[in-house]
Amino acid sequence: MNHEDANGGLDLNSPPPPPPQPVGIYGWRKRCLYAFVLALMIVVIMNLALTVWILRILRFSLDGMGHLKIKPSGIQVKAEAEFLKTVYVDELKSEGSPLFLESTKSVHLLTTDRSRTIRSRLVLDQENITASCDTFRVVDSNGTVNLLLSSQKVILGNGDATVPGDIKFNGAVFTPTIQSPLNSSLEISSENSKVHITAIGGVSLSSTLANVTLQTDDNIYIQSGALHLIGNELYLLGIPTVDATTSLPVKPTTAPPTVYQLCVCENGKAFLGNASGNCRASSEICSDSTKP
Ligand SMILES: *[C@@H]1O[C@H](CO)[C@@H](O)[C@H](O)[C@H]1NC(C)=O
Ligand SMILES: *[C@@H]1O[C@H](CO)[C@@H](O)[C@H](O)[C@H]1NC(C)=O
Ligand SMILES: *[C@@H]1O[C@H](CO)[C@@H](O)[C@H](O)[C@H]1NC(C)=O
Ligand SMILES: *[C@@H]1O[C@H](CO)[C@@H](O)[C@H](O)[C@H]1NC(C)=O
Ligand SMILES: *[C@@H]1O[C@H](CO)[C@@H](O)[C@H](O)[C@H]1NC(C)=O
Repeated sequence: MNHEDANGGLDLNSPPPPPPQPVGIYGWRKRCLYAFVLALMIVVIMNLALTVWILRILRFSLDGMGHLKIKPSGIQVKAEAEFLKTVYVDELKSEGSPLFLESTKSVHLLTTDRSRTIRSRLVLDQENITASCDTFRVVDSNGTVNLLLSSQKVILGNGDATVPGDIKFNGAVFTPTIQSPLNSSLEISSENSKVHITAIGGVSLSSTLANVTLQTDDNIYIQSGALHLIGNELYLLGIPTVDATTSLPVKPTTAPPTVYQLCVCENGKAFLGNASGNCRASSEICSDSTKP
């Protein structure tokens, strides 16, 4: 108004100045602008509030976000992390606490070659642990093989191996000794067939405290160069005796079978003598040709 008054008062003769153009926006435009600014402010405030809310919800801090911390050495997640697809890592490591790999179905550890063919695998499932590999080896901390299983051979430890049940071998067993456990006896038997013991260097059966018994319901054949029976006493039990008066031939026409006397030299050598008369021996017969 002052401006208009001053203008009016300066020069009365000059044509009346054109009515001053209103500066700024008036009327409905102004109200529109105010409404727009208000809406914009509301949007900005809501945006800020949402941002703050999101920051609070996600627990953003200077180190990272919630349980996810960003460190100079990498990223640390202090809570459970769920990866629904493959995770590629170079190393899985746990320091100071055990490392668990857990699955409600099964755990598979695989190695593959460049063409992604599986070379070996360890599968832990609900019932079995299955290792598929060419050679399964258990090595102790010194590098000694304690268990080796391959298609060619089986190595069981360096010390004693204890098997609580029976062992069945379908092939031969090569071993220098077979021993019974302390205070129990050793039995070698063949339920339905034969037992053969053969050796080129000699076979020896000995018992220092008890009897050695050979027993069969059939015959015993001993075949050797010379048979030595060495004992403090010699018993031949169960030999049938013959009464000379009743053993005369029933049919006089048939000749009696030739019989001999069993004679024994001083050195134990036995020979047959004529049935009639005394045992007579030459020093040649009694010579000890096969002393053990
Ligand atoms: C465990 O092994 C047995 C015998 O090989 C097999 O029959 C069974 O299916 C296996 N169990 C699982 C869960 O694979
Ligand atoms: C490893 O070797 C050392 C030294 O020879 C020995 O004392 C130790 O008992 C060995 N460990 C095993 C598990 O055989
Ligand atoms: C073996 O038997 C003897 C005598 O019966 C006994 O003194 C000893 O303790 C037994 N040894 C074992 C390992 O049973
Ligand atoms: C050895 O055999 C004889 C005769 O059968 C028997 O009397 C004796 O008890 C046996 N000795 C042993 C230690 O079994
Ligand atoms: C045995 O007796 C027969 C005759 O009875 C005799 O010819 C033979 O020479 C005798 N033999 C011996 C080894 O005494």
